[in-house]
Amino acid sequence: MLLKNRKLVVATNNKHKLREIEEILNGFEIIPAKEVLKEFNPEENGRSFCENAFIKAKALKEHTEFPVLADDSGLEVFALGGEPGVFSSRYSEDGSDEANLKKLLLNLKGINNRKARFVCCMVLVFGDRVIKKEGFVYGSITEKPRGKSGFGYDPVFVPDGYDKTFAEMGEKEKNSISHRRRALELIKGELEAIYG
Ligand code: IMP
Repeated sequence: MLLKNRKLVVATNNKHKLREIEEILNGFEIIPAKEVLKEFNPEENGRSFCENAFIKAKALKEHTEFPVLADDSGLEVFALGGEPGVFSSRYSEDGSDEANLKKLLLNLKGINNRKARFVCCMVLVFGDRVIKKEGFVYGSITEKPRGKSGFGYDPVFVPDGYDKTFAEMGEKEKNSISHRRRALELIKGELEAIYG
């Protein structure tokens, strides 16, 4: 299936994500969700990252003729049975980054196995086709937060092969190995095949 224009609606208004998506999917015209739908806030009640990404993509696809790309991501800590997982952004009661981090470190107190991974699922919906791609970055959780850049769980996550947390790296270095980057690279391959 060859499509003529390279417009792609993305189911996010998050500036960081839009920048990262635009940088990787260069050659495509990226349209943010808010240009298609003023209020875009679907309930993310899926049991997996891919289910949530699909919920977002499908909700937006009902309002546009262009292909839609949606993502969902989070942190899985193995010793905690995959927590916080799909609840990453609302792990603690108030859902702030600080409170989420605090709860995570408390739950890991005294636990030696601190292995974890960030997961990102990207879902592309065009016509009646749905393509899902997942990206992972493996690492471990520190005893204390370190670094100021990034967001979410970045201050406690050290990727394998590094000694800096994501928050001690600059945005550029983190984005070059991130779970989102890996999922996007796979989606890019699919898009090139679709658009020719
Ligand atoms: P969402 O994909 O925007 O819904 O992200 C869900 C949550 O996962 C965020 O609020 C963060 O807590 C966490 N998360 C996802 N990606 C990252 C990342 O790259 N760094 C740190 N935290 C992340």
